[in-house]
Amino acid sequence: MYAGLRSLLFKLEPETSHDVVMGALAVVAKSRVLSALAGVLAGRVEFAGPVEVMGIDFANPVGLAAGLDKQASAGNALHQFGFGWLEFGTVTPEPQPGNPKPRIFRIPEHQAIINRLGFNSVSLNRFISNLKRMDPKIIKGINIGKNAATPLKDAAQDYLTGLRAVYDHADYVAVNVSSPNTRGLRELQQHPALDALLAALNRQRQQLADNSGRYIPLVVKIAPDLDQAQIDVIAGILRRHKIDGVAATNTTLSRDAIAGHRFASEVGGLSGQPLQTCSTRVTAALYANLQGEIPIIGIGGINSPESALEKFQAGAKLIQLYSGFIYHGPKLIRDILSHINQNQ
Ligand code: FNR
Repeated sequence: MYAGLRSLLFKLEPETSHDVVMGALAVVAKSRVLSALAGVLAGRVEFAGPVEVMGIDFANPVGLAAGLDKQASAGNALHQFGFGWLEFGTVTPEPQPGNPKPRIFRIPEHQAIINRLGFNSVSLNRFISNLKRMDPKIIKGINIGKNAATPLKDAAQDYLTGLRAVYDHADYVAVNVSSPNTRGLRELQQHPALDALLAALNRQRQQLADNSGRYIPLVVKIAPDLDQAQIDVIAGILRRHKIDGVAATNTTLSRDAIAGHRFASEVGGLSGQPLQTCSTRVTAALYANLQGEIPIIGIGGINSPESALEKFQAGAKLIQLYSGFIYHGPKLIRDILSHINQNQ
């Protein structure tokens, strides 16, 4: 069924088709009956789980990656497709429009996407009121970022504002220092910026945990465009700050895997199949350093049970999908989960 729907949606400009689908899912998400129906139509099957990571019981290890539901408006419907959990955002402290359109490019020949959205974000108030409407049983990661207008030297304030705002509504908070579409953001992955940011976030988290009695894990999401030495520096900082999890990876700036394609020179982050090998390499390098001390969420180019397995074999405890879900729909989740079940 998804193949038919996809061929219709792919006739539309990419961001328009995204908005149409998310608009429809947001309507479906408001009704329990319609959400359940969406699950039946998608052929949702209950699978073995849960998987305990970072003290959270994930219904299964396959999650939705950040960026598809930036407003947290469609959680009840997306959950019905079989995801074990959903990551919402990136949300910024102040609402912002992001970059000029067009800013999403489909590359079906490579099952890939280039995007330069630049954190188009609703207000925190709207984001949180959407979260409040969501089924409390859904495991929610909330991905936070900085506003484009905030100077890099003040970035920590933006992340602290985000953390305070979403803390009571999150199962974990993902700190996005790896989008290529906000100028300078990736510099926050370097020493000493990352050190200072994580120290500030830890202090704030401690206060929030003391006040609320709930400890919420912090996850740092990193880029794929890092060499071994940079990965080792990041791993050392994550370990020093006792960060709960690391998500690897965001989109890549590399165009090697799509060289010669008419969209290869579009500015932005490349995701999907061309990212698979590179993000798996980062996962494996992180795992070699961290030795399981900090769990890894493997993301990048997962479009089949085999590519999912590759991430687990590289050391990931959980995985997330974005581009593969766009190209294959809910069936991809089912196929991956069946494969995991058969190989357990
Ligand atoms: C993303 N991604 C992303 N990541 C993030 O942390 N915050 C965000 O707001 C977004 N936004 C976003 C928009 C679009 C259109 C795409 C395609 C991707 C990155 C995403 O979460 C994931 O890390 C990468 O896409 C790699 O996974 P896939 O797509 O290869 O499965």
